[in-house]
Amino acid sequence: MSIKKKIILSGMRPTGKLHIGHYVGALENWVSLQNEFQNYHLIADYHVLTTNLNTSDIFDDTIDMVIDWIACGINPNESPIFRQSQIKEHTELFLIFSMLITKARLEKNPALKEQIRDLNLQTISYGHLGYPVLQAADILLYKGEYVPVGEDQVPHIEITRHIAGLFNERYKLSGGKEIFPIPEPKLTKFSRLPGLDGKAKMSKSLGNTILISDDLDTIKTKMRKAFTDPNKLRKGDKGNPDICLVYTYHKKFNPSEQTEIFTGCSTGQLGCVDCKMKISEKIANFFSPIREKRKELEKNKEKVLETLLDGESKAREVARNTMREVREAMKIG
Ligand code: TRP
Repeated sequence: MSIKKKIILSGMRPTGKLHIGHYVGALENWVSLQNEFQNYHLIADYHVLTTNLNTSDIFDDTIDMVIDWIACGINPNESPIFRQSQIKEHTELFLIFSMLITKARLEKNPALKEQIRDLNLQTISYGHLGYPVLQAADILLYKGEYVPVGEDQVPHIEITRHIAGLFNERYKLSGGKEIFPIPEPKLTKFSRLPGLDGKAKMSKSLGNTILISDDLDTIKTKMRKAFTDPNKLRKGDKGNPDICLVYTYHKKFNPSEQTEIFTGCSTGQLGCVDCKMKISEKIANFFSPIREKRKELEKNKEKVLETLLDGESKAREVARNTMREVREAMKIG
């Protein structure tokens, strides 16, 4: 008898070509969870509208992102990849959930407050305030039990747990069966890579990224400008690797030489340029097979779209079943 695998729902906004911070913070983890769990990979294309109403890039950005996902090792035959916007059940369940949660609870969300501060927003839309409710529908339609996220997304998962509890308490299937699991966040251990400018996070909007698709020359060019210990001006000066983002990259992509790099930097024997060129090679090598696979996929974007459509038909079936249960429990329709 086969034991039913636990369900993971992971999601990401389609931001185009991904950077190595996405790999370290999310993709690597997703790939490693593939066999033990049943995974669903959601593309949060409606979520993009919360901060950008210009939709002209969404489709191309989606395809670029899917290419990175598959190139990094997601197997779309086992783990469906799908767009939120193509499965109507997301908006249906979102509407029902939005009646269960109070406005005050949504306004209290620290992740939203942080976003308002970071993006310096004067006001937000009704949909933006409610976007964690859409996220709850994303997760619960597939009865997700675990959600791999970074620290910053944990408050959203708390809202999902809250909504699942409210629904289960009020509406049950005949026999008293509850429909939704109470999902848990699954935090990544190495969850963030700093940006090339020394900011805590790599991000497209900050322009401080190394892309998964970047070749060696591009990486070297970007790395030359990377921020290092300001007290180490030239080779011979003693540096502090613990405050240097390049050293963080060594820890991740060059662990076998980590100690040597640490000593070299702190004694002054290793200069920043050499250190940067070395890590550039390591990063380029690490991603080389992924870049090759990416190139193949890029040659056949039609096929990538087909993969997406196939994932969508699989996901739709699951979503429909859940909505059937929801309607039954609520005695609607
Ligand atoms: N809220 C996530 C973000 O802003 C994206 C997202 C939407 C998501 N639905 C999800 C993440 C479901 C995990 C699970 O990046």
